[in-house]
Amino acid sequence: MSTIDIAIIGAGPGGYVCALRAAKLGLSVALVDERTSLGGTCLNIGCIPSKTLLHSSELLSEMQNDAASNGIALAGVPTMDIPLMMQRKLGVVAKLAGGIALLCKQAKVTVLQGRATLLGEGKVGIEGRDTGEISAKNIVLATGSVPVELPFMKFDGQSIVSSTEALAFDKVPGKLLVIGAGAIGLELGSVWARLGSEVTVLEFLPQIAPTFDADISRHLQRSLARQGLIFHLETKVTGCEVKDGRAVVTAEKGGQGLSFEADKVLVAVGRRPNTAGLNLEAAGVTLDAKGRVETDAGLRTKAAGVWAIGDLVAGPMLAHKAEAEAHLVAERIAGHKALPLDHDNIPGVVYTSPEAASAGLTEKMAKERGLEVKVGKSFYAANGRALASDAADGYAKVISDKATDRLLGVQIVGASASELIAEAVAHLEYGGSAEDIALCVHAHPTLSEVLKAAAQ
Ligand code: NAI
Repeated sequence: MSTIDIAIIGAGPGGYVCALRAAKLGLSVALVDERTSLGGTCLNIGCIPSKTLLHSSELLSEMQNDAASNGIALAGVPTMDIPLMMQRKLGVVAKLAGGIALLCKQAKVTVLQGRATLLGEGKVGIEGRDTGEISAKNIVLATGSVPVELPFMKFDGQSIVSSTEALAFDKVPGKLLVIGAGAIGLELGSVWARLGSEVTVLEFLPQIAPTFDADISRHLQRSLARQGLIFHLETKVTGCEVKDGRAVVTAEKGGQGLSFEADKVLVAVGRRPNTAGLNLEAAGVTLDAKGRVETDAGLRTKAAGVWAIGDLVAGPMLAHKAEAEAHLVAERIAGHKALPLDHDNIPGVVYTSPEAASAGLTEKMAKERGLEVKVGKSFYAANGRALASDAADGYAKVISDKATDRLLGVQIVGASASELIAEAVAHLEYGGSAEDIALCVHAHPTLSEVLKAAAQ
């Protein structure tokens, strides 16, 4: 192959989006991934499969809990066929992965399968189905992240598992212990709790979902506790033993020793950049103290012609952040202007029921930055559409600057928070005020009126 414009390593929402954008801009692109199925962690073992399981289990729970009050008589007790639920999940993943492959083909992106390594001077080595070497004017690193392991309880794929296995259990674990109350722990804990597991969540910090304000987290915790999840906060896991397929996890809470028995332990204590085997150092790419690839604001690494995006670099580890960075890099390589991302405005969502979503600054962050704030709240229980839809649980919280009313942040815990937060992102990006949200006419009756009312 002659020297191409861009070689992209990693075909997740960072890599494949960068490939498609760059191809659209007229550049020649190769996209390398060790998986045969494109889409990376997000599509194959992350965001998308978890959303299918969340949907299936929510449907079951609605039938069990809301059918009768809506006047629906069911012939028997609704139950879940786990293999069929998993089959649906795989079908959704396969369809989307096929879609990406088709888009790449149409855009004339060369897709290569194999493990890639940097060989220096614009060269990338590949080992796999497409073993060989490619030369590129630019290299984009987009290899994502891998789950963090606790040193005293290594993943064994059976009893001590990461999200990958917890998305594919072949039966409902009797007892599931979740370590870490971030997005992964809460989402997958909710799935298996709805399907019948006894789920206990251990969290090191004094609140679940620690990127949210404490009041939002408390509300979410109460809602999840009503669904059966058991929480132990300020609890530090200290050890683990696995015997005959059962795990015994020891922990410490306020100086007291605790012990938990479980059929499965899901360790969801964060993810770390996936830099292993890329030969970064030799190629001149440097890492920071947290193991992230160091870049400038325009996502150039220290090595000439090498860029990095997504979970590999600073900022929240989120698919949509990787996508936005993919566009930025593609545009810049094509010689166009593209502004660096404002990390504050990247929305974060926990897809539990109710959902929790946030954009901009939390009240706590705003105060830590020395800002004086105004806070407006509005409750789903006062919203017509919410009551009509069995979705009265939750509220929206709007945070604005006390003196200027400039919108600083929005957090929502409640149904469809993941969709409603987009409006907040738009106002934040345009530098709007809380009043701007309040003055926009919102359709009635919709859940979006909860945000409008909070802004008012
Ligand atoms: P996380 O960083 O979001 O949360 C990990 C939680 O574990 C934190 O609350 C932390 O305090 C706690 N923790 C850490 N060490 C602990 C210990 N030894 N004992 C008890 N608790 C401990 O990590 P998570 O949930 O694993 O997700 C990884 C990444 O993937 C995150 O960046 C997350 O944002 C992203 N992700 C996003 C999703 C979404 O947007 N809905 C879904 C899944 C993952």
